[in-house]
Amino acid sequence: MKVLVIGAGNMGLTYAEGMAKSPYLNRRNLMIYDVSPEKTLELKEIPNFDAYDKIADCLPKADVVFIAVKPYHSEELFNSMKNLVNENQLFISLMAGITINTIQEGLGIKKVVRAMPNLPAKVGLGMTSFTESKEVSRIELIMVRNLLDTTGEAIHVKNENFINASTGISGSGPAYVFYFMQSMMEAALKMGFSQNDSKILVTQTFEGAVALFNDSDLSPNAWMDMVASKGGTTRAALDSMEDNNVKELIKEAAYAAFDRATELGQ
Ligand SMILES: NC(=O)c1ccc[n+]([C@@H]2O[C@H](COP(=O)([O-])OP(=O)(O)OC[C@H]3O[C@@H](n4cnc5c(N)ncnc54)[C@H](OP(=O)(O)O)[C@@H]3O)[C@@H](O)[C@H]2O)c1
Repeated sequence: MKVLVIGAGNMGLTYAEGMAKSPYLNRRNLMIYDVSPEKTLELKEIPNFDAYDKIADCLPKADVVFIAVKPYHSEELFNSMKNLVNENQLFISLMAGITINTIQEGLGIKKVVRAMPNLPAKVGLGMTSFTESKEVSRIELIMVRNLLDTTGEAIHVKNENFINASTGISGSGPAYVFYFMQSMMEAALKMGFSQNDSKILVTQTFEGAVALFNDSDLSPNAWMDMVASKGGTTRAALDSMEDNNVKELIKEAAYAAFDRATELGQ
């Protein structure tokens, strides 16, 4: 199977590196194309990736086409692809807010998978959700899951509404975690810790909490009860968060991202 990645930015390169590890293909079968000639020169240095200068030289050869350009470049890209595609090819799009229908109409093809990735894919801990047009077969879906799994975890969702919903949870989610980390680091600095110590205190706390959580079947609520004794320090912090409605505000933020993703797709 031949896979072509279009757009060698953050996501395109990350998925290219991941997919090269999939049993469905090896590096020699991974073609990559970017509009920037400087980037293409750099790509040609990566061992065993086939980097192309012209889309006409690679697109017709591909079985699977992975689209990883920014959404605002989609129209221009579709125009450059339209006459080079065929109906047997499967297209996997990472473009936020660009619907399956828009891709089908823009390219004049039927088989489309729309996926929502997140940035931790860069370190192999990504979370990708995906859904497909009805023309994509079950066997093709298994292959897609296998390709997406190479950058972390992938879940199949039943429609595009869940792609927008997962944007609000996992797509934008790393930024919510960074927000929490930043707030805790600022508190540590204010308490007098050095920049470096603040960073270690916070990052190790996050890593430790996630590792503990993953090591058991307990819910976050159950873990909070284990950490917080009545009248103690943790309870004082959790009570302060409850009094300030922090949980509701976080849920509202996730919905804001979900609503924005839905709006962008219209
Ligand atoms: N980054 C995230 O956390 C994240 C999360 C969820 C979804 N996504 C989605 O992932 C997609 C890629 O995002 P990214 O952060 O990887 O973007 P990026 O770093 O800007 O990479 C896109 C690459 O595509 C190139 N490009 C632009 N037009 C092209 C064309 N017509 N043909 C070939 N290559 C072209 C760009 O070149 P120039 O730089 O010269 O324009 C750039 O190298 C986006 O659609 C985004 O919505 C990203």
